[in-house]
Amino acid sequence: MTGQVLSVVQKKGGSGKTTVLASIATLMHEDGAKVAAIDTDPLTPLADFVEACNKQGIEIDYEIETDERALPKLILAYKKEYDIVLIDTAGIDSKATDHSIQLSDLILVPVKAAKPDAKGLVHILETIETQAALKAAHIGEDNFKVPTYIVFSDFKPNTKMAKISSQLIIQKAKAKDITVLDGKMLHRTLFEDFISFGGFLEGNARSAAKDVLASLQIANALDYYDKKKR
Ligand SMILES: Nc1ncnc2c1ncn2[C@@H]1O[C@H](COP(=O)(O)OP(=O)(O)O)[C@@H](O)[C@H]1O
Ligand SMILES: [Mg+2]
Repeated sequence: MTGQVLSVVQKKGGSGKTTVLASIATLMHEDGAKVAAIDTDPLTPLADFVEACNKQGIEIDYEIETDERALPKLILAYKKEYDIVLIDTAGIDSKATDHSIQLSDLILVPVKAAKPDAKGLVHILETIETQAALKAAHIGEDNFKVPTYIVFSDFKPNTKMAKISSQLIIQKAKAKDITVLDGKMLHRTLFEDFISFGGFLEGNARSAAKDVLASLQIANALDYYDKKKR
């Protein structure tokens, strides 16, 4: 089996990286996928979440890997064993994040509709470009790109801020030819309890996260669902 590696990256901290990844982890687990989570954040938010899930009988495997030298080997080993390997990163420039980007089949960048997140987006898109260029040189393939998607996070649709910032973010994405997902991680207070206590997604947080997963499926970004269709 060769699974897919999905990393969630964004320079801006608190942009919803761990929340969107935890959501994808539990939803894909419910759909029968063999899911592994790798936490490269020294504060281990994803690992804490998965541990809480494990205690409730939700069996998702996880590993904390804060040593960037050991990370590539772990990612490649997991890729052979799982349908999807989900990598959470810290909102800092680090070798761990660079390695995760290099070894990803798919990258998700969450952005809150706010100026600091838009700046963080520009920064991380440059990092992704740099890593893609290095990989392109390495594999001898021009124009190599890692499929990258932007997802609105903690989105409050009726605010002026959302309207103005989302336009700005969509512009920046277009300039780099990167898709912004239609499905959004809407602002839902239930996400707080979900991430703090683990478990399955409930209520309107569940519907929001499902919309994001559906958008990725529509984009044919997730091999697990494409294989299931066949
Ligand atoms: N869609 C959302 N609705 C409401 N709160 C959210 C949402 N996404 C994230 N949050 C909250 O925002 C904070 C930061 O989210 P987190 O996923 O930890 O971001 P990051 O991993 O990028 O630092 C957390 O308190 C989380 O509960
Ligand atoms: Mg996080």
